[in-house]
Parts: sequence; structure tokens; C-alpha cells
Amino acid sequence: MNENAVKVTIAGGGASHTPGIIQALLESQAKFPVAEIRLYDIDEQKNDDMYVIIKGMLKAFKLENIKLIQTTDPEEGFKQVDFVFSQIRVGDLAMREKDEKIPLKYGLVGQETCGAGGFAYGLRSIKGLLEIVEYVQEYAPDAWILNYTNPESLIAEAVRRKFPHAKMLNACDMTISIEETICRNFGYDRKNWIAQYYGLNHFGWYTSIYDKSLKREVMPEIIEKLQKQPMKVASFNANDQSWQNAWNMLSENLRLFPDYLPNNYLEYYLFPDVVVKSSDSNYTRANYVLDTRVKENHQLAEELRAGQRADFDFDFGEHGNYIVDMAASILNDSHERFMLILPNTGSISNLRHDAVVEVPAYVGRIGAEPVALKEPINNFHKGLMEAQDAAEKLLVDAYFEHSYQKALQAFTLNLAVPSADKAKQVLDALIVANKNYWPKLH
Ligand code: G6P
Ligand code: MN
Repeated sequence: MNENAVKVTIAGGGASHTPGIIQALLESQAKFPVAEIRLYDIDEQKNDDMYVIIKGMLKAFKLENIKLIQTTDPEEGFKQVDFVFSQIRVGDLAMREKDEKIPLKYGLVGQETCGAGGFAYGLRSIKGLLEIVEYVQEYAPDAWILNYTNPESLIAEAVRRKFPHAKMLNACDMTISIEETICRNFGYDRKNWIAQYYGLNHFGWYTSIYDKSLKREVMPEIIEKLQKQPMKVASFNANDQSWQNAWNMLSENLRLFPDYLPNNYLEYYLFPDVVVKSSDSNYTRANYVLDTRVKENHQLAEELRAGQRADFDFDFGEHGNYIVDMAASILNDSHERFMLILPNTGSISNLRHDAVVEVPAYVGRIGAEPVALKEPINNFHKGLMEAQDAAEKLLVDAYFEHSYQKALQAFTLNLAVPSADKAKQVLDALIVANKNYWPKLH
């Protein structure tokens, strides 16, 4: 075993994205050697399904020398590990379903990370993530936490307030997923790209994509292609109609605002009425994920338990690679470039310094070194970002101060919520639905 090999904990080990992350880990042994993988989850059953699947993967990859542990005990989960990959989902998909369905009842966007649903998830998620950070500070204070848990801007803001020195990077795979889907549709290779992008999480724009192999800027031609025709879902999202809808809406967005390539999540803030009209309040994304990924993983685990299966044929896209590449860039101090969610501290010169933004950053042993944009951002993007960032700040205030008034202001200011009256109605309904998770607001 390589003496530099590291110990990695997956917090939320039972999540349906775990096999993708593990596959990326196993394929990255040359640059990121692993001695031990720990699956930590409070859901023993789901964690055990993943344990069985990952045991099978270790065998298939001939990497059975990697120690695999599953646990519900924080000490066993985190003691002296080197890296923690967090993908916990507080309240699991049952609560995601409520985040999506309750706002729809009031004619509002029902989405896991955007709008009222995203804020509901935020008030659950912050507590769970702060708990993980506490465990890591207690049991593995030198470890790096790489966070995928949503809603990322809210989490980044809350962790920064409570643990300003936490060794934590917050990353979202949406930008690379957009890039990869563009590449698979139009025949580019994103490994050749230098992308300029800014925004909040799930709320941003590309301003330039330079292709090193073609030796030219390619964003304008990509925008032109996307205006003519939406891209098709890539193979890792095959037959997934909701992702196809997202790419369709991205093209709609570009027809109105053709200067920059937008993050697809902007549809929820710029076109909330269109999104609501096409939503099915009886069957949302949570239902789809439960009926597909979650079910398939459980079946796979059952087949493996019965000794009926030994082959694996996964296509997970870049989701797993992204977090593993980031960890490798820390371990090897290789200063690769990633889109990260972090405090502004000057990256965007004309935006408040404590905004939580998503911008390119170089990652090495001392963490993230974000780039400073060459120019101030335009007033359209600035106005949108300032409103949404202020809404997020108010929500984090509401969490720490247990303030109903701040929560109401946050919901009202959220760009996906059109009126204070609606904001109050949906907030009150979400308080009831989240009584076991949210702080008591008064
Ligand atoms: C993208 C986003 C994630 C989000 C996920 C939802 O990857 O960046 O933040 O959680 O999509 O995917 P799902 O298949 O669970 O709807
Ligand atoms: Mn994301």
C-alpha cells in the first residue's frame, strides 16, 4: 500500500450518488491513492446497500486492498480521516418531495435548491452540515471537507459564520455538467477549455470559454447553436425528461438574453410562471429519483447479496470525478482550476465582499485561491445577484436568530417568490412540514 494513501469518509454514504463518487475514486488511484473508504450515514439500511455495492466495485476493480467501513457512529466515521466528501441530505428524499410539492400548491416554483423549496431545504441542511463540521473538528481537525450538500450558498454562508476557519471547499457539479453536455452534443472537449464564469450557486453566467486546442473563443458559436436548438440530454441522463426540459429552458433564456451562457437553474428565477405551468404537482423530481436511481441501487444491492451479479456498467458523468479531482489537487498541490462557492473577498469588484459567489478558483494544499474577474459585472446580473444574495443572507440570519421576521423577508425577497402574501403562506406551510428539522422561529 502506498504510504501516501489517504482515508476518505463519505458523509451521506447511503446516497444514490455514492457509486459514482467511488467509481471516480477507484479510477483515480494513480493521483489520489486511497487506503480506506468509510461510509457514514444515519440511515443504516441505505448505507448497507452502498456497502454491498462498493464491496462489489472494489472486487471488480481488483482493489480489495482498500479497507471499506460502514458506520452510523460519528467517531468511527471521522476519526483521523484525511478527506470528508459530504453529500448528506437532511430529511432525505421524503422531505425533498415536500420542498417541491408544497410551494406548487401555492402556485410557486417547487424545486429542491431554488425558491421557497430551496430555502426550506436550507433551514434543514445548515444544521446537518454544521454537525458534520463539528465532528470533523473533533475527530479529524486536519481533514479537508469537500462539500456537495445543497443548498450550497446557504451552507457556505452558515459554515463561514460559525466556523470561519473550517477547512472546507463547497463545490457544485452543475457548471461541468453543462460543459460536458455541450461537449457531448457539439463535439468539444472540456479538458481543453478555460471557462470564465461568475454568479451565486445555481445562479450564474459564463462570460467566455476559450478552447486551447482550437486556439479560440468558442462561447459565441455555442450560444448560436443553443439558440437554434436545445441540446439533448447526455447519456448519463438518458431518457430523463426533466433534464431535457432544463436544456430547453436554457435555450429559451438565451433567446431573450443572448450575451452570456446562463446556468440552467436561472429558469426558476427568470421564468417562474413558465416553470410552474409545466410542473406536475403530483409527481415531482423527488418521485422520479425514488423511482429510478434509488430503486435501481437497492435492486443492485439485493442482486449482489444474492450473488447474482458481478459486472458494473456505470456512466455517471463528471459528478464523481469533480470532487475527486479537487481532492487530488489538494493532495498533490497541483493548482487545478475549479468552480467553487466561496466568499467574494474581491473576486467581483463591484459586489459586496461578503457575498457568497461561485467563481473559478485554483485549488492546492492551502485550499482555494479564487480568481479576480478582470472587469466589474454588468447591472443586470449585479441586480439579480444582489437581491438573491441578500435573501440568502436573511435566511441564514433567520436560522441563527430563530427569527420568523427574517425568514419572511428572505422568502419575500427570493426572486422565485412574487409576493409577500404568497411568501407568508408558503413559509407557514413549510414551518409545519419541517417541524422536526427547522429551528423554532418566533
Ligand atoms: C445537479 C446539481 C445538484 C443537484 C442535482 C440534482 O447536479 O448541481 O446540486 O442536487 O443536479 O439531481 P437529481 O438527479 O437528484 O435531481
Ligand atoms: Mn449543484
